[in-house]
Amino acid sequence: MSHAAPRGLRRLAFGGDYNPEQWPEEVWREDVALMREAGVTMVSVGIFSWARLEPREGSLDFGWLDRLLDLLHAGGIRVDLGTPTVVPPAWFYRAHPEALPVSREGVTYEFGSRGAICHSSPAYQEAAARITRALAERYGDHPALAMWHVHNEYGVPVLECYCATSAAHFRRWLAERHGTLEALNDAWGTTFWGQAYGDWEEIQPPRATPTVANPAQRLDFARFASDSALANFRRERDLLRELSPGVPVTTNFMVSPTQCDSVDYWAWGGEVDLVTNDHYLVAEEDRNHVNLAMAADLSRSVGGGRPWLLLEHSTSAVNWQPRGIAKAPGEMARNSLAHVARGSDGAMFFQWRASRFGAEKFHSAMLPHAGTDSRIWREVVELGADLGRLADVRGTRTVADVAVAWDWQSWWAQKLEWRPSQDLDTRERAEAYYAALFDRHLTVDFAHPDAAGSAGHPLVVVPALYLATAAAGAALSRYVADGGTLLVSYFSGIVDEHDAVHPGPHPGALREVLGLRVEEFQPLRAGQEVRIDGPDGARLRGDVWAETLLLDGAEPVWRYADGPAAGGPAVTRHAYGRGAAWYVSTRLDRADLDPVLAAAAADAGLASRDDLPHDVEVVRRTGETGTFVFVINHTGAEAKVPLASPGTELLTGTRADARLAVPAGAVRVVRLDD
Ligand code: GAL
Repeated sequence: MSHAAPRGLRRLAFGGDYNPEQWPEEVWREDVALMREAGVTMVSVGIFSWARLEPREGSLDFGWLDRLLDLLHAGGIRVDLGTPTVVPPAWFYRAHPEALPVSREGVTYEFGSRGAICHSSPAYQEAAARITRALAERYGDHPALAMWHVHNEYGVPVLECYCATSAAHFRRWLAERHGTLEALNDAWGTTFWGQAYGDWEEIQPPRATPTVANPAQRLDFARFASDSALANFRRERDLLRELSPGVPVTTNFMVSPTQCDSVDYWAWGGEVDLVTNDHYLVAEEDRNHVNLAMAADLSRSVGGGRPWLLLEHSTSAVNWQPRGIAKAPGEMARNSLAHVARGSDGAMFFQWRASRFGAEKFHSAMLPHAGTDSRIWREVVELGADLGRLADVRGTRTVADVAVAWDWQSWWAQKLEWRPSQDLDTRERAEAYYAALFDRHLTVDFAHPDAAGSAGHPLVVVPALYLATAAAGAALSRYVADGGTLLVSYFSGIVDEHDAVHPGPHPGALREVLGLRVEEFQPLRAGQEVRIDGPDGARLRGDVWAETLLLDGAEPVWRYADGPAAGGPAVTRHAYGRGAAWYVSTRLDRADLDPVLAAAAADAGLASRDDLPHDVEVVRRTGETGTFVFVINHTGAEAKVPLASPGTELLTGTRADARLAVPAGAVRVVRLDD
């Protein structure tokens, strides 16, 4: 995987989506002057500009964009230029109403918003290629051009389309995946409920059905939808690479499981020249900086550990959550620098100037409706200066301690209907284990289950992996046999890639490495809790789920004290080869996970970080320009943090000794002396 940085950018990226078409041209001059004042280095332009660039089919108007790019260039601002293919104009839909997407229930989504796209539509693909080609031919070597920004957030607001064109495309995709109809019938288990297909033409997308649809069919359709959008991304990317060589091509991801669930980013990460991500805090969530850290680690991980770029976040409130909670003073800087700590080579926003009209006029911006005499503007200017001081961080890599297995496809499968409990929740488990790791100050690399054990992490955590292929199971077994430590949570390793239960008792794909069998699932009633007793009298509480386990080599470490599996093992450890595999068969909350995680981490030889204060993030980036320790204090009190060696604190320009004091709510970045 290559790593490409925005062309001509020598500093960290700082700026935002810039939508000048919403403003008269005299405002543009003021914009550029203010961008310079704030230390903006790059803006994203043209993402929603198709109707302005091509007001009527075939009639192109580039004059305004010529003037804008020249103005930005004269101001020293680099440009991340969008292909506007997320918003085909009204004339396009009038000519091609069949390109509108259709929901599972048969509702056609109309024009008048954005993202109304059927990714299988040939008319859409042709029109998208034409406008992309025209842009690349005109601006491919423009001196302001730093990067191409294809489309916008594939996957949201809709990805799947169930129209007749998509159905035909789905059948072609299935023929390629399964080869023969027999193989498809087999993979989909169509002997169940008499669903066998005798001809490809009989197969439809899994549209709304009277009761639960075939889960393997639904899973394949989810894969198909992600692949179809990826094919459209590739078409645009390849045109841009051909016509604008040397300029990196990206599309902004939304890797956070709270924000997009329809794209398999493991398949996409290697297709972009630079991973870029958009992240929005769930403002009302308690300790929302933890999920921010998770999204940042996931962004880095889908790019194979390369530096990536935060292309959008918010200076303060967003307009699409139930309450537009404003960020507190200093929160925007903490958010921005937390992304940088975890590998982003900059911090960009949606958007530069707050809109006066349209659906997003109550979204915060770098330049708010209040203008420059505002806290937000002052903090934006300060952040620009801070990022300027961190230029040497560019290109360095974040150092992680632990791998966490994560798989979008397994999540899709687990979320389908008629699982043993409606309270099973892949995302919730991933977030809880992540939070427990965060609270132990362990930095996480996410990994596809097939590769989770291959990067040398001493501990691999599997929070929820309902779907695990035999290959993933074998890879995790090898990892443990070779000396690794594995920590697996319940309802993992149950089905294969076709949502078929692995042969034999659960958890088929992980049974051997865990050294146990599940005799019976014991889902708990709403609100029911079970007590589990552990070493030294430690007592924890589980809910949602329990299991009756039979041990084949694993040792019980915690036992159920009550509930349906009373007296039986709840948390186990299996010495396997040169390593050990831990299993947790109930839902522990973040705090109760801690002692279990501590035991597994100690098993893995990870040093405890008990000397670091709670809710103070300490993350390292290292590379040719040095080693940088980011310390982000999310608490309301000064924090003291030990450093491995003295260094220079880059934001204040002062010396830092072995014990760094970080004021309440502040961030410090120390470049270590050695
Ligand atoms: C993003 C999107 C932006 C803007 C933003 C508002 O998902 O890419 O265009 O809508 O959300 O938070």
